[in-house]
Amino acid sequence: MKEYLTYDDVQILPKYSEIKHRINCNTSTKVTKNIKLDIPIVSSPMDTVTGLDMAYVMGYLGGMGIVHRFMSIEEQSNIIHQCNLERDQYDTDGLHVGAAIGVTGDFIERTQELLLKGCSVICIDVAHGHHKLVKEAMRRLKNEINGKIDILVGNISTKESAKDLCEWGADGLRIGIGGGSLCSTRIQTGVGVPMVTSILDCVDVADDYDVPCMADGGIRSVGDVCKGLACGADTIMLGSLLSGTKESPGSITKQGVWPNEVLQKKYRGSASLESKLDRGEDKNVEGYSTTVPYKGKVSRIINDILDGLKSSMSYVGAENIIDFQTKSELIKITNSGITEAKPHLL
Ligand code: XMP
Repeated sequence: MKEYLTYDDVQILPKYSEIKHRINCNTSTKVTKNIKLDIPIVSSPMDTVTGLDMAYVMGYLGGMGIVHRFMSIEEQSNIIHQCNLERDQYDTDGLHVGAAIGVTGDFIERTQELLLKGCSVICIDVAHGHHKLVKEAMRRLKNEINGKIDILVGNISTKESAKDLCEWGADGLRIGIGGGSLCSTRIQTGVGVPMVTSILDCVDVADDYDVPCMADGGIRSVGDVCKGLACGADTIMLGSLLSGTKESPGSITKQGVWPNEVLQKKYRGSASLESKLDRGEDKNVEGYSTTVPYKGKVSRIINDILDGLKSSMSYVGAENIIDFQTKSELIKITNSGITEAKPHLL
């Protein structure tokens, strides 16, 4: 049996560096074949992560938000429209915004409307991207949609799926099955692939097609963001790290009484029972819902990530993301290495 590794199992080897100032490290990258971002961070299309405020701020900061699809066509396209209105107001030319769709029902109509409102990337957002329904949906999107369309597709985790999706016309791949912080897929079904090997395998194939890859799920720290990119991912998708922020959808609740009160927000899996019940479903529950501490503005988190990433780039002597992907050498560590990697004085 082949051994599959995840973020905790690896570390990035330091390399000779000539980077004088981290500020000179360039973090620009591609999320799909035709869409460039200033920073490699994308917010997840979950209903407690990306609505209007998150989509706008992520675009404004140089990344991208993918507006979730659990709403009417009108509501979703209106969010895209408002993001673009804000863009005009602040003259931020390169602001990009994405939107998620499914592969059945109204997805063609939805895509047409989203594109009309200025959506940069259409994300086919399904749990198992290596599926006939996805192939069929991509064929229809490419044939029936008028005008330019950049399709990000997922989720997948194997070489075979990466090859098929590239052949079907994907402009970007979203990698990660069962690694998300609220996922219960691996528990409910036994199916899943640890992230590091998932990314390495898919990137290996996608490179031949020049299709950018996104690592999605399981990121708990800035170090994990760096490791995902070092594996060859071009962008990193975040759910939990961006949940509980001012810009994530949902209200702030208070737990306890002053002076010991704690502020919280909800974070729930797209396939959690709570989320499914809202959509009138109750089958195939493969996720949890929880509350997370309120974290304040998303810009603070993004700045922390960029600080850590630029530092990581300087440790391997990389001036830009492609340089970082090429120069990074990953080493497999033992359990003692995992213990050593965490603060262990106490
Ligand atoms: P993190 O670890 O950043 O992961 O919180 C976010 C990603 O998790 C996926 N996701 C789910 N996976 N059941 C799952 O198995 C769910 O209910 C669920 N909701 C989200 C998704 O890929 C997201 O970007």
